[in-house]
Amino acid sequence: MPVSALAGGGPRPDPCAIVIFGASGDLTARKLIPALWNLFQDGRLPDGFSIIGLARTPKTSEQFRDEMRKAVAEHSRTGEPQADQWSEFAAGLFYLQGQYDRPETYQQLIELLREQCCRRGSCGNQLFYLSTPPSGYDEIIRQLGQAGLAAQGPGSVAGGWSRIMVEKPFGRDLASAKRLNAELRREFEEEQIYRIDHYLGKETIQNLLVFRFANGIFEPIWNRRYVDHVQISVAEKLGVEGRGASYEEAGALRDMIQNHLMQMMCLVAMEPPTRLDHRAIGNEKVKVLEAIRPITDGDVACWAARGQYAAGTIDGKPVPGYREEPGVDSRSRTETYAAVKFEIENWRWAGVPFYLRTGKRLPERVTEVSIHFRRAPHLLFNEFGDGAMEKNRLVIRVQPHEGIGLHFRVKVPGAGMQIRPRSMQFDYKDAFETQHPEAYERLLLDGLLGDLTLFNRADWMELSWTLIDPILCAWDQDQQALPQYPAGTWGPEEAYDLIRRDGRKWWISQQ
Ligand code: BG6
Repeated sequence: MPVSALAGGGPRPDPCAIVIFGASGDLTARKLIPALWNLFQDGRLPDGFSIIGLARTPKTSEQFRDEMRKAVAEHSRTGEPQADQWSEFAAGLFYLQGQYDRPETYQQLIELLREQCCRRGSCGNQLFYLSTPPSGYDEIIRQLGQAGLAAQGPGSVAGGWSRIMVEKPFGRDLASAKRLNAELRREFEEEQIYRIDHYLGKETIQNLLVFRFANGIFEPIWNRRYVDHVQISVAEKLGVEGRGASYEEAGALRDMIQNHLMQMMCLVAMEPPTRLDHRAIGNEKVKVLEAIRPITDGDVACWAARGQYAAGTIDGKPVPGYREEPGVDSRSRTETYAAVKFEIENWRWAGVPFYLRTGKRLPERVTEVSIHFRRAPHLLFNEFGDGAMEKNRLVIRVQPHEGIGLHFRVKVPGAGMQIRPRSMQFDYKDAFETQHPEAYERLLLDGLLGDLTLFNRADWMELSWTLIDPILCAWDQDQQALPQYPAGTWGPEEAYDLIRRDGRKWWISQQ
């Protein structure tokens, strides 16, 4: 069996307790516990760890353990757990039922933490993970502060370190993101706050930095002289999968563009950081957002497009439209597809558009970044048709076929001059015997180790919302019918227009 890239080597976190707020929710079962289980199997959890699931639903620790074993069997990349290993892991799993707004809940939590300290040795250090609906965050942060659980070091309730991880969505606009930052900062220091964007934990996203800055040959062409434009696409086949009610409050712009796609854009566009740490990388990412030409309410239609999926066909099977999904308003105006064009006004990128797009119920699941280079300056092969003149592309495939492709034209062997597009491919699976760890494994481990590099800073969060707010505002006020696209197609006509107007077209690599 392939081993995980996190296995072996590397530091191990201090003994600690991980407290998950919202433990009866989907994220805990699908991502958090499977990730912690894989860290445990790889020997990356400390001895004497304890994991406390906290939620409102009444259940015992025994029930919680049973549910989590099933969840691990279903969702972990390593499949059904082995009985003896599982009982060792499960001995560190506990459940606490409580209301998030009641001080008693936090007193019970303190007692449980103290008990774990004596019984398991998970003394003093604690990571709080907020995975409840975001409307509950403020209250939990306040209560943690009041109970003394945000304080760190000797003399504090914990005695050791205290950290808080905040799951997305981080606010729903600039004002709410600012409020959340203020609430967090009232109780915690910035270095205790871990704002999650799970895309930053993906191996292929981390590789963007390695690819750009560990190879000397790309830097000289990574700019407006050689790059025509950049496309970042996150296409999903799935619909809203039972999340209709919460998705109604979000939409594709908030759910994906403001965070995952803008993060990728920053990693592609940023200047080399002086060091590989949170501060230096954070500074460069922030500079990218600061350089983006603001989109104003009046010109949103030129810079952004949206759509909503109607009934259609995926993999030959009929699927319902978004408005027919459970929990969705039958007249909903929530977009399930969004495309935005950004321009970064600095010396490196002036005049090079970055096109970002994402949608649900598209024909394929694929996430990729493609760098489209300028055409050769002299059109020597003009007469051999359009194919001969296509641009070179460098494609970074984030998922599912992780790798990198360089696309160019070659001469077909034989008499005459026929030209065809071909590519050189690097494939992670072929190149390495390791299995990619899940993004949450990496992020939880970093949180336990106190490494903030892959987490978001407050200023990045607020700047990204500053850029997104005018689009949200214009779309809110727009009275026209929301463009529809049949499920199983590549999005609404408006999105094609957005890029066609610039004489370009959307592109996705063929597997
Ligand atoms: C989440 C969004 O952040 O990312 C979901 O809320 C989306 O709507 C998911 O499906 C996609 O993540 P991944 O890792 O499957 O690309």
